[in-house]
Amino acid sequence: MGENTQETLDSAQYRRESILRYERVYGEDFVSPGGAGIARELIASLGLEPGARVLDVGCGLGGSAFLMARDFGLRVDGIDLSRNMLELATQKLESRGLGDRVTLRRGDCLELDAEDTYDAVYSRDVFLHIADKPRLLRVLARALRPGGRLLFTDYCCGPKPWRDDFTAYVESRGYHLHTLEAYAALLIGAGLARVEAEDWTPRFVEVLGRELERLERLEFDAADRDSLLASWRQKLERARGGDHRWGLFRAVKPDVVEG
Ligand SMILES: C[S@@+](CC[C@H](N)C(=O)[O-])C[C@H]1O[C@@H](n2cnc3c(N)ncnc32)[C@H](O)[C@@H]1O
Repeated sequence: MGENTQETLDSAQYRRESILRYERVYGEDFVSPGGAGIARELIASLGLEPGARVLDVGCGLGGSAFLMARDFGLRVDGIDLSRNMLELATQKLESRGLGDRVTLRRGDCLELDAEDTYDAVYSRDVFLHIADKPRLLRVLARALRPGGRLLFTDYCCGPKPWRDDFTAYVESRGYHLHTLEAYAALLIGAGLARVEAEDWTPRFVEVLGRELERLERLEFDAADRDSLLASWRQKLERARGGDHRWGLFRAVKPDVVEG
C-alpha cells in the first residue's frame, strides 16, 4: 500500500466531524493519546531553552505547538498534510494570539527541504500514516541542526503473526507499522545517534483506560457514542494482547551524519 494522500486523509479518518469527535476524547487541541498531559511531559523532557526552534511534524490541531510556544517559550513551525486539520488549527492559532512564535502550514513532511535548521524535531503519532520511513527519517535528520534532537511517539506493532482483528484494523486504516526494534534500526540507518526506543505500551493502556472513562461520561449522539466506545475498547484489547504497541523514540543528530 502506498502513501496516504491529503485526499485520503481528509475524506476518511480526518473528516472535519471525525476530527472534532476525536478532539473531545483526547482533549482540547489534540488528536493523539494522552492529549495535553503527555505532550507537556514529552516537551519538558527535551530540555530546550526559550527561543529554541522546533518543527512539529503532523501538528494536527496545533495542541503541542501551542503548548511549546505558550508554556516553554519555543518557536515552532508546524506542518500537516490534512486540509481539514490545518483549517481548524489556523483558526485556533488566530484565537490564541501566538502568531509571533508559531507558524502552521499545509504540506507533506516527506517534501520538507529544511537543512540544519531545528533544535528539535517533534512528532506525535503521525508516522503510522507514512510508508517510506527511510526517506522520512532522512528528511527529518537533515532538518535538524547538528546536536539537535528528534523525539516522536508512534503506533508500533508486536512481532507477526498478529491476531486477525489487528491485521484487519491495520489494513482498514492503511497504517504502516513497525516493531520498536525495526524502528530503532531505521533511525540508526538514517545516520542518527544516541537512539532510544522505549516501549510505552503500558502507558498506552493506562491512557486508553482514562480516555474510555471520559468517553463513557461524554454526551454524543447514540451512534457516535457506540462506535467510539467500540473503537476504544478494541484498541485497549489489542494493546493488552501485545499486537498494538506504542513507542517513544529519541535520537540526536551527530556533527557528521553518516548513512
Ligand atoms: C493522529 S493525528 C496527530 C496530530 C497531532 N500530532 C496531535 O498530537 O494531536 C496524525 C496527523 O498526521 C498528519 N499527517 C499524516 N501524514 C502526513 C504527512 N505525510 N505529512 C504531514 N502530516 C501528515 C495527519 O493529517 C494528522 O493531522
